[in-house]
Amino acid sequence: LVAGVDSSTQSTKIVVCDAETGAVVRTSRAPHPDGTSVDPEVWWRAYEDATADGMLDDVEAIAVGGQQHGMVALDSDGAVIREALLWNDVRSAGAARDLVDELGGAGAWVDRLDVVPVAAFTVAKVRWLRDAEPDNAARLDTVVLPHDWLTGRILQAGGGLRGWTTDRGDASGTGYWSPVTGEYDADIQRLALGREFGVPRVLGPAEPAGVTDAGLVVGAGTGDNMGAALGLGLQPGDVVVSLGTSGTVFAVQDTPTRDASGQIAGFASADGRHLPLMCTLNAARVLTAGAQLLGVDLDEFSRLALAAPIGAQGLTLLPYLDGERTPDLPDATGTLGGLTRANATPENVARACVEGMLANLVAGVEGLKQHGLSARRIVLIGGAAASAAVREIAPILFGLPVHIPAPGEYVGIGAARQAAWALAGGDEPPAWQVAYDHELEATDDDVTAGRAVYERYLRLQRQLHG
Ligand code: XUL
Repeated sequence: LVAGVDSSTQSTKIVVCDAETGAVVRTSRAPHPDGTSVDPEVWWRAYEDATADGMLDDVEAIAVGGQQHGMVALDSDGAVIREALLWNDVRSAGAARDLVDELGGAGAWVDRLDVVPVAAFTVAKVRWLRDAEPDNAARLDTVVLPHDWLTGRILQAGGGLRGWTTDRGDASGTGYWSPVTGEYDADIQRLALGREFGVPRVLGPAEPAGVTDAGLVVGAGTGDNMGAALGLGLQPGDVVVSLGTSGTVFAVQDTPTRDASGQIAGFASADGRHLPLMCTLNAARVLTAGAQLLGVDLDEFSRLALAAPIGAQGLTLLPYLDGERTPDLPDATGTLGGLTRANATPENVARACVEGMLANLVAGVEGLKQHGLSARRIVLIGGAAASAAVREIAPILFGLPVHIPAPGEYVGIGAARQAAWALAGGDEPPAWQVAYDHELEATDDDVTAGRAVYERYLRLQRQLHG
Protein backbone atom coordinates (compact mmCIF):
# COMPACT_ATOMS: atom_id res chain seq x y z
CA LEU A 1 0.00 0.00 0.00
CA VAL A 2 0.99 3.63 -0.54
CA ALA A 3 -0.41 6.83 0.95
CA GLY A 4 -0.89 10.34 -0.38
CA VAL A 5 -1.40 13.45 1.73
CA ASP A 6 -3.32 16.52 0.60
CA SER A 7 -2.24 19.31 2.93
CA SER A 8 -4.60 22.05 1.80
CA THR A 9 -5.69 25.46 3.00
CA GLN A 10 -8.40 24.04 5.26
CA SER A 11 -7.54 20.44 6.12
CA THR A 12 -5.22 17.48 5.82
CA LYS A 13 -6.52 14.47 3.91
CA ILE A 14 -4.92 11.03 3.64
CA VAL A 15 -5.64 8.56 0.85
CA VAL A 16 -4.29 5.01 1.07
CA CYS A 17 -4.14 3.18 -2.27
CA ASP A 18 -3.08 -0.14 -3.70
CA ALA A 19 0.39 0.56 -5.11
CA GLU A 20 -0.18 -1.37 -8.32
CA THR A 21 -3.75 -0.51 -9.32
CA GLY A 22 -4.32 2.78 -7.49
CA ALA A 23 -7.58 1.45 -5.99
CA VAL A 24 -8.42 3.57 -2.93
CA VAL A 25 -8.36 1.39 0.19
CA ARG A 26 -9.18 3.98 2.89
CA THR A 27 -9.22 7.74 3.46
CA SER A 28 -9.24 10.11 6.41
CA ARG A 29 -9.36 13.83 7.01
CA ALA A 30 -8.59 16.26 9.83
CA PRO A 31 -9.40 19.96 9.69
CA HIS A 32 -6.94 22.67 10.67
CA PRO A 33 -7.31 26.42 11.09
CA ASP A 34 -8.01 28.23 7.84
CA GLY A 35 -6.63 31.61 6.88
CA THR A 36 -3.90 33.28 4.87
CA SER A 37 -1.23 33.14 7.56
CA VAL A 38 -0.87 30.09 9.85
CA ASP A 39 1.62 28.33 12.10
CA PRO A 40 2.87 25.27 10.14
CA GLU A 41 2.57 23.22 13.32
CA VAL A 42 -1.22 23.07 12.64
CA TRP A 43 -0.52 21.08 9.45
CA TRP A 44 1.57 18.61 11.43
CA ARG A 45 -1.09 18.21 14.14
CA ALA A 46 -3.77 17.65 11.48
CA TYR A 47 -1.47 15.09 9.81
CA GLU A 48 -1.06 13.29 13.15
CA ASP A 49 -4.83 13.29 13.69
CA ALA A 50 -5.53 12.04 10.18
CA THR A 51 -2.95 9.24 10.42
CA ALA A 52 -4.01 8.04 13.89
CA ASP A 53 -5.82 4.71 14.36
CA GLY A 54 -3.61 2.59 12.13
CA MET A 55 -4.22 4.66 8.99
CA LEU A 56 -0.65 4.01 7.80
CA ASP A 57 -0.52 0.31 8.78
CA ASP A 58 1.04 -1.72 5.93
CA VAL A 59 1.85 1.48 4.03
CA GLU A 60 5.28 1.23 2.38
CA ALA A 61 5.57 4.75 0.95
CA ILE A 62 3.95 8.15 1.37
CA ALA A 63 4.18 11.54 -0.37
CA VAL A 64 2.70 14.97 0.35
CA GLY A 65 0.78 17.22 -2.05
CA GLY A 66 0.51 20.69 -0.52
CA GLN A 67 -0.88 24.13 -1.18
CA GLN A 68 1.59 25.90 -3.48
CA HIS A 69 3.72 29.00 -2.86
CA GLY A 70 3.42 29.46 0.95
CA MET A 71 6.55 30.89 2.60
CA VAL A 72 7.72 28.83 5.56
CA ALA A 73 10.59 30.91 6.93
CA LEU A 74 13.19 28.99 8.96
CA ASP A 75 16.12 30.13 11.09
CA SER A 76 19.52 28.46 11.14
CA ASP A 77 18.24 25.78 13.56
CA GLY A 78 15.39 24.90 11.21
CA ALA A 79 12.85 26.53 13.56
CA VAL A 80 9.88 28.39 12.06
CA ILE A 81 10.44 32.16 12.41
CA ARG A 82 6.88 33.41 11.88
CA GLU A 83 3.51 32.16 10.69
CA ALA A 84 3.66 30.85 7.11
CA LEU A 85 2.29 33.34 4.59
CA LEU A 86 0.06 31.38 2.23
CA TRP A 87 -0.77 31.53 -1.48
CA ASN A 88 -3.98 33.48 -0.76
CA ASP A 89 -2.33 36.22 1.32
CA VAL A 90 -2.27 39.44 -0.68
CA ARG A 91 -0.18 41.67 1.63
CA SER A 92 2.77 41.02 -0.70
CA ALA A 93 1.02 42.56 -3.76
CA GLY A 94 3.13 45.74 -3.61
CA ALA A 95 6.31 43.68 -3.19
CA ALA A 96 5.38 41.70 -6.32
CA ARG A 97 4.89 44.91 -8.32
CA ASP A 98 8.26 46.24 -7.11
CA LEU A 99 10.03 43.02 -8.14
CA VAL A 100 8.45 43.09 -11.60
CA ASP A 101 9.58 46.70 -12.13
CA GLU A 102 13.07 46.19 -10.73
CA LEU A 103 13.84 43.30 -13.08
CA GLY A 104 12.69 45.35 -16.08
CA GLY A 105 9.05 44.29 -16.45
CA ALA A 106 6.95 41.18 -16.98
CA GLY A 107 8.83 40.16 -20.15
CA ALA A 108 12.11 39.96 -18.24
CA TRP A 109 10.50 37.64 -15.66
CA VAL A 110 9.00 35.19 -18.15
CA ASP A 111 12.23 35.09 -20.16
CA ARG A 112 14.07 34.13 -17.02
CA LEU A 113 11.65 32.02 -14.94
CA ASP A 114 8.46 31.44 -17.02
CA VAL A 115 6.34 33.34 -14.47
CA VAL A 116 5.42 36.92 -13.61
CA PRO A 117 5.22 37.14 -9.81
CA VAL A 118 2.01 38.26 -8.11
CA ALA A 119 1.29 38.41 -4.37
CA ALA A 120 0.89 34.59 -4.20
CA PHE A 121 4.45 33.75 -5.24
CA THR A 122 7.04 32.94 -2.58
CA VAL A 123 9.48 35.47 -4.03
CA ALA A 124 7.02 38.31 -3.32
CA LYS A 125 6.56 37.09 0.26
CA VAL A 126 10.33 37.06 0.79
CA ARG A 127 10.53 40.67 -0.46
CA TRP A 128 7.59 41.59 1.81
CA LEU A 129 9.47 40.08 4.78
CA ARG A 130 12.57 42.13 3.96
CA ASP A 131 10.54 45.36 3.87
CA ALA A 132 7.95 44.77 6.61
CA GLU A 133 9.77 42.59 9.16
CA PRO A 134 13.52 43.34 8.97
CA ASP A 135 14.25 41.51 12.22
CA ASN A 136 12.66 38.33 10.90
CA ALA A 137 14.39 38.84 7.56
CA ALA A 138 17.75 39.08 9.36
CA ARG A 139 17.07 35.71 11.09
CA LEU A 140 15.94 34.04 7.87
CA ASP A 141 18.20 31.16 6.89
CA THR A 142 16.06 28.95 4.62
CA VAL A 143 12.69 29.21 2.87
CA VAL A 144 10.68 26.03 2.26
CA LEU A 145 7.16 25.48 0.92
CA PRO A 146 4.28 23.91 2.86
CA HIS A 147 4.75 20.46 1.28
CA ASP A 148 8.53 20.62 1.83
CA TRP A 149 8.01 21.46 5.49
CA LEU A 150 5.49 18.68 6.12
CA THR A 151 7.65 16.16 4.24
CA GLY A 152 10.62 17.20 6.39
CA ARG A 153 8.52 17.00 9.56
CA ILE A 154 7.38 13.44 8.72
CA LEU A 155 11.00 12.44 8.16
CA GLN A 156 12.19 14.28 11.26
CA ALA A 157 9.59 12.51 13.45
CA GLY A 158 10.63 9.19 11.89
CA GLY A 159 14.36 9.80 12.36
CA GLY A 160 15.08 10.15 8.63
CA LEU A 161 15.52 13.89 7.95
CA ARG A 162 18.70 14.53 5.96
CA GLY A 163 18.04 18.10 4.80
CA TRP A 164 15.16 19.95 3.18
CA THR A 165 13.85 18.83 -0.21
CA THR A 166 11.22 19.86 -2.74
CA ASP A 167 10.22 18.85 -6.28
CA ARG A 168 10.15 20.59 -9.67
CA GLY A 169 6.43 21.34 -9.50
CA ASP A 170 6.40 23.18 -6.21
CA ALA A 171 9.83 24.79 -6.85
CA SER A 172 8.38 26.38 -10.00
CA GLY A 173 5.88 28.34 -7.87
CA THR A 174 8.57 30.09 -5.86
CA GLY A 175 9.55 32.61 -8.53
CA TYR A 176 13.24 31.91 -7.96
CA TRP A 177 13.62 28.51 -9.68
CA SER A 178 13.56 27.94 -13.43
CA PRO A 179 11.62 25.01 -14.88
CA VAL A 180 13.77 25.31 -18.01
CA THR A 181 17.27 25.24 -16.49
CA GLY A 182 16.22 23.29 -13.39
CA GLU A 183 18.31 25.70 -11.28
CA TYR A 184 17.62 28.23 -8.57
CA ASP A 185 18.25 31.82 -9.62
CA ALA A 186 20.61 33.40 -7.09
CA ASP A 187 20.26 36.86 -8.68
CA ILE A 188 16.51 36.78 -8.06
CA GLN A 189 17.05 35.61 -4.48
CA ARG A 190 19.36 38.60 -3.95
CA LEU A 191 16.83 40.91 -5.59
CA ALA A 192 14.14 39.67 -3.18
CA LEU A 193 16.02 39.61 0.13
CA GLY A 194 19.23 41.51 -0.53
CA ARG A 195 21.20 38.26 -0.12
CA GLU A 196 20.96 34.59 -0.99
CA PHE A 197 19.10 32.24 1.35
CA GLY A 198 18.90 28.49 1.83
CA VAL A 199 16.54 26.52 -0.42
CA PRO A 200 15.46 22.87 -0.51
CA ARG A 201 17.16 20.42 -2.87
CA VAL A 202 14.97 19.77 -5.93
CA LEU A 203 14.30 16.06 -6.34
CA GLY A 204 13.42 14.17 -9.51
CA PRO A 205 9.85 12.83 -9.85
CA ALA A 206 10.58 9.34 -8.52
CA GLU A 207 13.37 10.29 -6.15
CA PRO A 208 12.47 9.80 -2.47
CA ALA A 209 13.03 12.58 0.06
CA GLY A 210 14.12 9.96 2.60
CA VAL A 211 13.22 6.85 4.57
CA THR A 212 12.11 6.75 8.21
CA ASP A 213 13.70 4.44 10.78
CA ALA A 214 10.58 2.27 10.45
CA GLY A 215 11.28 1.86 6.72
CA LEU A 216 8.54 4.19 5.38
CA VAL A 217 9.72 5.65 2.05
CA VAL A 218 8.81 9.35 1.83
CA GLY A 219 8.42 10.55 -1.76
CA ALA A 220 9.38 13.97 -3.08
CA GLY A 221 5.83 15.31 -2.81
CA THR A 222 4.64 18.26 -4.90
CA GLY A 223 2.23 21.21 -5.13
CA ASP A 224 -1.46 20.38 -4.92
CA ASN A 225 -2.28 21.24 -8.54
CA MET A 226 0.67 19.14 -9.74
CA GLY A 227 -0.56 16.35 -7.45
CA ALA A 228 -4.05 16.53 -8.96
CA ALA A 229 -2.56 16.37 -12.48
CA LEU A 230 -0.69 13.19 -11.51
CA GLY A 231 -3.79 11.73 -9.82
CA LEU A 232 -5.91 12.38 -12.91
CA GLY A 233 -3.36 10.97 -15.37
CA LEU A 234 -4.03 13.77 -17.86
CA GLN A 235 -3.99 13.18 -21.63
CA PRO A 236 -3.28 15.77 -24.38
CA GLY A 237 -6.45 17.87 -24.82
CA ASP A 238 -7.49 17.54 -21.15
CA VAL A 239 -7.86 20.89 -19.39
CA VAL A 240 -8.52 20.64 -15.66
CA VAL A 241 -10.78 23.16 -13.98
CA SER A 242 -10.53 22.78 -10.21
CA LEU A 243 -13.12 24.52 -8.06
CA GLY A 244 -11.74 24.49 -4.53
CA THR A 245 -10.78 27.35 -2.23
CA SER A 246 -8.83 28.54 -5.26
CA GLY A 247 -10.04 28.12 -8.81
CA THR A 248 -7.39 26.71 -11.12
CA VAL A 249 -7.23 25.89 -14.82
CA PHE A 250 -4.29 23.80 -16.00
CA ALA A 251 -2.99 21.22 -18.44
CA VAL A 252 0.17 19.15 -18.75
CA GLN A 253 2.45 19.52 -21.74
CA ASP A 254 6.02 18.79 -22.83
CA THR A 255 7.12 22.35 -23.58
CA PRO A 256 7.23 25.43 -21.32
CA THR A 257 4.72 28.29 -21.58
CA ARG A 258 5.82 31.91 -21.38
CA ASP A 259 2.98 34.38 -20.86
CA ALA A 260 4.18 37.94 -20.26
CA SER A 261 0.60 39.01 -19.44
CA GLY A 262 1.02 36.93 -16.25
CA GLN A 263 -2.35 35.22 -16.75
CA ILE A 264 -0.84 31.76 -17.30
CA ALA A 265 2.00 30.78 -15.00
CA GLY A 266 4.56 28.47 -16.64
CA PHE A 267 4.88 25.96 -13.79
CA ALA A 268 6.55 22.54 -13.93
CA SER A 269 4.59 19.33 -13.43
CA ALA A 270 5.40 16.58 -10.93
CA ASP A 271 6.27 14.09 -13.69
CA GLY A 272 9.09 16.00 -15.36
CA ARG A 273 6.99 17.99 -17.82
CA HIS A 274 5.27 21.41 -17.64
CA LEU A 275 1.99 22.55 -16.11
CA PRO A 276 0.76 25.92 -17.44
CA LEU A 277 -1.77 27.16 -14.88
CA MET A 278 -4.14 30.02 -14.20
CA CYS A 279 -5.30 30.59 -10.62
CA THR A 280 -8.14 32.65 -9.16
CA LEU A 281 -8.81 33.43 -5.52
CA ASN A 282 -12.57 33.11 -5.90
CA ALA A 283 -14.09 29.72 -6.64
CA ALA A 284 -16.17 27.43 -4.38
CA ARG A 285 -16.56 30.14 -1.78
CA VAL A 286 -18.38 32.39 -4.27
CA LEU A 287 -21.20 29.87 -4.09
CA THR A 288 -21.22 29.78 -0.29
CA ALA A 289 -21.19 33.59 -0.22
CA GLY A 290 -24.09 33.67 -2.70
CA ALA A 291 -26.06 31.18 -0.61
CA GLN A 292 -25.35 33.28 2.49
CA LEU A 293 -26.55 36.42 0.70
CA LEU A 294 -29.79 34.71 -0.25
CA GLY A 295 -30.21 33.02 3.15
CA VAL A 296 -30.39 29.50 1.67
CA ASP A 297 -28.32 26.31 1.79
CA LEU A 298 -26.19 25.17 -1.15
CA ASP A 299 -28.81 22.75 -2.51
CA GLU A 300 -31.46 25.45 -2.59
CA PHE A 301 -28.93 27.89 -4.06
CA SER A 302 -28.25 25.43 -6.86
CA ARG A 303 -31.99 24.91 -7.46
CA LEU A 304 -32.48 28.69 -7.66
CA ALA A 305 -29.59 29.11 -10.14
CA LEU A 306 -31.07 26.45 -12.41
CA ALA A 307 -34.50 28.09 -12.29
CA ALA A 308 -33.11 31.25 -13.98
CA PRO A 309 -32.41 31.48 -17.72
CA ILE A 310 -28.88 31.51 -19.20
CA GLY A 311 -27.48 35.00 -18.61
CA ALA A 312 -29.60 35.66 -15.49
CA GLN A 313 -31.65 38.22 -17.44
CA GLY A 314 -28.69 40.57 -17.68
CA LEU A 315 -27.19 40.22 -14.19
CA THR A 316 -23.41 39.80 -14.13
CA LEU A 317 -21.23 39.03 -11.13
CA LEU A 318 -17.55 39.97 -11.09
CA PRO A 319 -16.70 37.48 -8.32
CA TYR A 320 -13.63 39.16 -6.82
CA LEU A 321 -14.86 38.72 -3.25
CA ASP A 322 -11.40 38.06 -1.78
CA GLY A 323 -9.58 40.45 -4.12
CA GLU A 324 -8.30 38.65 -7.22
CA ARG A 325 -5.09 37.12 -8.47
CA THR A 326 -6.03 36.57 -12.12
CA PRO A 327 -6.82 39.18 -13.29
CA ASP A 328 -4.24 40.77 -10.98
CA LEU A 329 -6.59 42.88 -8.84
CA PRO A 330 -5.55 42.19 -5.23
CA ASP A 331 -7.65 45.06 -3.86
CA ALA A 332 -10.79 44.45 -5.94
CA THR A 333 -14.18 43.57 -4.48
CA GLY A 334 -17.14 41.81 -6.07
CA THR A 335 -19.64 43.64 -8.27
CA LEU A 336 -23.15 42.68 -9.26
CA GLY A 337 -23.72 44.56 -12.50
CA GLY A 338 -26.81 45.11 -14.62
CA LEU A 339 -29.33 45.04 -11.76
CA THR A 340 -32.83 46.23 -12.68
CA ARG A 341 -36.20 46.03 -10.94
CA ALA A 342 -37.22 43.34 -13.44
CA ASN A 343 -34.26 40.99 -12.94
CA ALA A 344 -33.85 41.42 -9.16
CA THR A 345 -34.83 37.85 -8.20
CA PRO A 346 -33.06 35.28 -6.01
CA GLU A 347 -32.96 32.95 -9.05
CA ASN A 348 -31.04 35.47 -11.18
CA VAL A 349 -28.67 36.38 -8.34
CA ALA A 350 -27.86 32.69 -7.78
CA ARG A 351 -27.34 32.13 -11.51
CA ALA A 352 -25.11 35.21 -11.82
CA CYS A 353 -22.93 33.88 -8.98
CA VAL A 354 -22.37 30.55 -10.74
CA GLU A 355 -21.88 32.17 -14.15
CA GLY A 356 -19.49 34.81 -12.77
CA MET A 357 -17.35 32.26 -10.93
CA LEU A 358 -17.12 30.12 -14.10
CA ALA A 359 -16.57 33.07 -16.50
CA ASN A 360 -13.47 34.01 -14.51
CA LEU A 361 -12.11 30.52 -15.27
CA VAL A 362 -13.23 30.51 -18.91
CA ALA A 363 -10.64 33.29 -19.29
CA GLY A 364 -8.00 30.76 -18.17
CA VAL A 365 -9.11 28.17 -20.74
CA GLU A 366 -8.99 30.86 -23.43
CA GLY A 367 -5.51 31.84 -22.23
CA LEU A 368 -4.24 28.25 -22.50
CA LYS A 369 -5.67 28.00 -26.02
CA GLN A 370 -3.90 31.22 -27.01
CA HIS A 371 -0.65 29.55 -25.98
CA GLY A 372 -1.30 26.71 -28.38
CA LEU A 373 -2.80 24.15 -26.02
CA SER A 374 -5.50 21.97 -27.45
CA ALA A 375 -8.64 21.88 -25.28
CA ARG A 376 -10.74 18.81 -26.13
CA ARG A 377 -12.57 18.49 -22.84
CA ILE A 378 -12.78 20.07 -19.39
CA VAL A 379 -11.97 17.74 -16.48
CA LEU A 380 -13.95 19.29 -13.62
CA ILE A 381 -12.80 18.61 -10.05
CA GLY A 382 -12.93 20.22 -6.58
CA GLY A 383 -15.69 20.68 -4.01
CA ALA A 384 -17.93 22.91 -6.15
CA ALA A 385 -17.93 20.32 -8.98
CA ALA A 386 -20.55 18.50 -6.87
CA SER A 387 -23.05 21.36 -7.36
CA ALA A 388 -25.88 20.49 -9.77
CA ALA A 389 -25.90 24.10 -11.01
CA VAL A 390 -22.17 24.07 -11.72
CA ARG A 391 -22.52 20.77 -13.60
CA GLU A 392 -25.27 22.10 -15.83
CA ILE A 393 -23.81 25.58 -16.42
CA ALA A 394 -20.14 24.59 -16.93
CA PRO A 395 -20.55 23.04 -20.42
CA ILE A 396 -22.57 26.08 -21.48
CA LEU A 397 -19.88 28.57 -20.41
CA PHE A 398 -16.79 26.56 -21.37
CA GLY A 399 -18.33 25.52 -24.70
CA LEU A 400 -16.61 22.13 -24.34
CA PRO A 401 -17.61 18.71 -23.06
CA VAL A 402 -17.23 18.62 -19.28
CA HIS A 403 -16.16 15.29 -17.77
CA ILE A 404 -16.36 14.72 -14.04
CA PRO A 405 -14.22 11.97 -12.51
CA ALA A 406 -15.66 9.72 -9.82
CA PRO A 407 -15.61 11.53 -6.47
CA GLY A 408 -12.12 11.32 -5.03
CA GLU A 409 -9.27 13.19 -3.45
CA TYR A 410 -7.22 13.61 -6.61
CA VAL A 411 -4.42 15.60 -4.96
CA GLY A 412 -3.99 12.82 -2.40
CA ILE A 413 -4.30 10.13 -5.09
CA GLY A 414 -1.62 11.92 -7.15
CA ALA A 415 0.67 12.09 -4.14
CA ALA A 416 0.04 8.38 -3.51
CA ARG A 417 0.87 7.66 -7.16
CA GLN A 418 4.12 9.57 -6.73
CA ALA A 419 4.85 7.47 -3.61
CA ALA A 420 4.20 4.30 -5.65
CA TRP A 421 6.56 5.65 -8.33
CA ALA A 422 9.25 6.22 -5.69
CA LEU A 423 8.89 2.55 -4.68
CA ALA A 424 8.82 1.11 -8.20
CA GLY A 425 11.34 3.49 -9.82
CA GLY A 426 11.49 3.82 -13.62
CA ASP A 427 10.77 6.67 -16.05
CA GLU A 428 6.98 6.60 -15.85
CA PRO A 429 4.59 6.54 -12.89
CA PRO A 430 2.59 3.32 -12.41
CA ALA A 431 -0.40 3.15 -14.77
CA TRP A 432 -3.44 3.90 -12.62
CA GLN A 433 -6.88 4.26 -14.21
CA VAL A 434 -9.34 7.07 -13.46
CA ALA A 435 -13.09 6.40 -13.65
CA TYR A 436 -15.41 9.14 -14.93
CA ASP A 437 -18.96 9.48 -13.57
CA HIS A 438 -20.44 12.19 -15.76
CA GLU A 439 -19.91 13.37 -19.32
CA LEU A 440 -21.85 16.58 -19.88
CA GLU A 441 -22.36 18.54 -23.06
CA ALA A 442 -24.42 21.64 -23.95
CA THR A 443 -26.42 22.26 -27.14
CA ASP A 444 -24.94 24.59 -29.78
CA ASP A 445 -27.61 27.20 -28.98
CA ASP A 446 -26.77 27.13 -25.28
CA VAL A 447 -23.05 27.42 -26.03
CA THR A 448 -23.76 30.50 -28.18
CA ALA A 449 -25.76 32.01 -25.31
CA GLY A 450 -22.95 31.09 -22.91
CA ARG A 451 -20.42 32.88 -25.11
CA ALA A 452 -22.52 36.05 -24.86
CA VAL A 453 -22.52 35.71 -21.05
CA TYR A 454 -18.71 35.46 -21.06
CA GLU A 455 -18.37 38.49 -23.35
CA ARG A 456 -20.68 40.54 -21.13
CA TYR A 457 -18.53 39.52 -18.15
CA LEU A 458 -15.39 40.72 -19.96
CA ARG A 459 -17.05 44.04 -20.86
CA LEU A 460 -18.00 44.75 -17.24
CA GLN A 461 -14.51 43.78 -16.11
CA ARG A 462 -12.94 46.19 -18.60
CA GLN A 463 -15.36 48.99 -17.64
CA LEU A 464 -14.62 48.69 -13.93
CA HIS A 465 -11.01 47.56 -13.80
CA GLY A 466 -9.51 48.72 -17.10
C1 XUL B 1 -1.92 27.84 -7.52
C2 XUL B 1 -2.33 28.28 -6.16
C3 XUL B 1 -3.43 27.55 -5.47
C4 XUL B 1 -2.91 26.80 -4.26
C5 XUL B 1 -4.11 26.26 -3.50
O1 XUL B 1 -0.89 28.58 -8.08
O2 XUL B 1 -1.82 29.20 -5.62
O3 XUL B 1 -4.14 26.71 -6.33
O4 XUL B 1 -2.01 25.82 -4.66
O5 XUL B 1 -3.80 25.34 -2.55
